[in-house]
Amino acid sequence: MASARNTVKRMHIRLSRRSDLKEYMPVLQRSAEDAYTSKRLGLDRSLFSERVYASKDMQEWMKGNLYPGQGKRTWLAFFGSRMIGAITVKRYGRRNELRGFYILPEFQGIGIGRLLVKKALEFSKGKEIILILYPHNLKSLAIYRGWGFRRFGGPGYHHWPTWPEGVRMKYIHMLLTKGGAGRLLKRL
Ligand SMILES: CC(C)(COP(=O)(O)OP(=O)(O)OC[C@H]1O[C@@H](n2cnc3c(N)ncnc32)[C@H](O)[C@@H]1OP(=O)(O)O)[C@@H](O)C(=O)NCCC(=O)NCCS
Repeated sequence: MASARNTVKRMHIRLSRRSDLKEYMPVLQRSAEDAYTSKRLGLDRSLFSERVYASKDMQEWMKGNLYPGQGKRTWLAFFGSRMIGAITVKRYGRRNELRGFYILPEFQGIGIGRLLVKKALEFSKGKEIILILYPHNLKSLAIYRGWGFRRFGGPGYHHWPTWPEGVRMKYIHMLLTKGGAGRLLKRL
């Protein structure tokens, strides 16, 4: 792969279209498989497989992110013509929610997530931002903490519809205050 700086230079970001679904799926699937698999927690790779992402529920969730609609935006990052990352922001009253934030593993850590978050913050116009995170995903937890997000409320557990009975994954909510969102936007 080209150097990090060249990669970022050759990258572009645009808003999503309905026709992006086919390419969007592997970006989410491969990043999730890499970030969420955990031997210690009994979270096997197969729980995040292509088959899982091809299921009806996952397809609907992805369309909900990707298809343009009122009060939400999804930006996609491309290296040449290849989709390598995505982020969605959805308006929820006085707050906005960040979701579907994924960069392909081989493109992580070189500043692409930062560029996407900047787009999201600009759209968010200084509102509070919430998100759901699986806390065993320590790298993303560290990234969000570095950006000023803090944990709030108690944890919950997700059971994805295609998973075997009894399998669940712990999630937490994180919040970036209005002040925090303003400070982060200035910094980025
Ligand atoms: C979370 C994610 C989208 C971030 O994208 P990225 O392109 O890797 O992030 P960047 O390289 O732009 O780095 C973002 C910031 O985190 C910092 N960072 C990067 N790796 C880090 C690490 N391992 N620990 C702590 N901070 C880190 C960077 O220095 C940068 O900080 P800055 O904005 O102050 O300069 C990406 O890592 C990813 O797809 N992870 C797997 C999926 C996931 O967990 N998504 C979130 C679901 S809620």
